[in-house]
Amino acid sequence: MTNRAAPMFDVQRLSAAYGLHQALDEVALTVAEGELVVILGANGAGKTTMLKAIAGLVPMPPSSQVHLAGQPLHGLPARLRVEAGVALVPEGRGIFGELTVRENLQLGAYPRRARADEARNLEHVLSLFPRLAERLGQTARTMSGGEQQMVAIGRALMSTPRLLLLDEPSLGLSPLMCGELFRALLQVKRSGVSVLLVEQNAKRSLAIADRGYLLENGRISGEGTAARLLNDPAVQAAYLGLGAG
Ligand SMILES: Nc1ncnc2c1ncn2[C@@H]1O[C@H](COP(=O)(O)OP(=O)(O)OP(=O)(O)O)[C@@H](O)[C@H]1O
Ligand SMILES: [Mg+2]
Repeated sequence: MTNRAAPMFDVQRLSAAYGLHQALDEVALTVAEGELVVILGANGAGKTTMLKAIAGLVPMPPSSQVHLAGQPLHGLPARLRVEAGVALVPEGRGIFGELTVRENLQLGAYPRRARADEARNLEHVLSLFPRLAERLGQTARTMSGGEQQMVAIGRALMSTPRLLLLDEPSLGLSPLMCGELFRALLQVKRSGVSVLLVEQNAKRSLAIADRGYLLENGRISGEGTAARLLNDPAVQAAYLGLGAG
């Protein structure tokens, strides 16, 4: 049963702690179907923790609620969240350097939800990232940083996700590679996937996002449409390197 009024992805009271350190404190956010939402926040704000908690890689308290397409994810182990349609592209990419590009992509198709779609998903990934098509047999660790990021995103897309989580995918990439990456993310969104993007590159990410949230010390401190955030003086000062006056 699906509720048409409910957002595709809905997070309520999401908290997480490392020992006594409260890294996330009652975060609430939503992502609609085919919407691209960016999370902006300083180093240590809790961005990675948030994505890991959603993916089931750090524990959350019983009060935290995460729903995808009406299905509760809280309480499910990480593996079953992947089966429900959550795909995380982790900080630092997490690809297998000794395997080829093709083998890395094939690993993404392992979830049961994606096995029957493997050929179609591979075609989609190679159309998004044509430079991977030329390099399917190449050992992943010999690829450039930008190409490795494409492999990581491609692998996530091989699992037929409903929700794609990305942790600072543009980190360390050249402006040219960044451009390619952000254009590809826009296409992913247009294909109907919901995208939750954590980024340091506020300007470029707000340029492709529909909405954004500001995360400060584990709490949401602001939110709005991408256009509104781009024009907000406080956002400009904190994230866009534009001081007032
Ligand atoms: N495994 C851990 N054990 C203890 N504390 C942790 C652990 N992982 C993260 N933290 C702490 O939790 C807080 C949030 O960390 P997190 O990695 O989520 O921040 P972030 O917003 O992703 O930062 P960055 O922009 O540097 O990637 C930080 O204070 C960090 O030191
Ligand atoms: Mg992080």
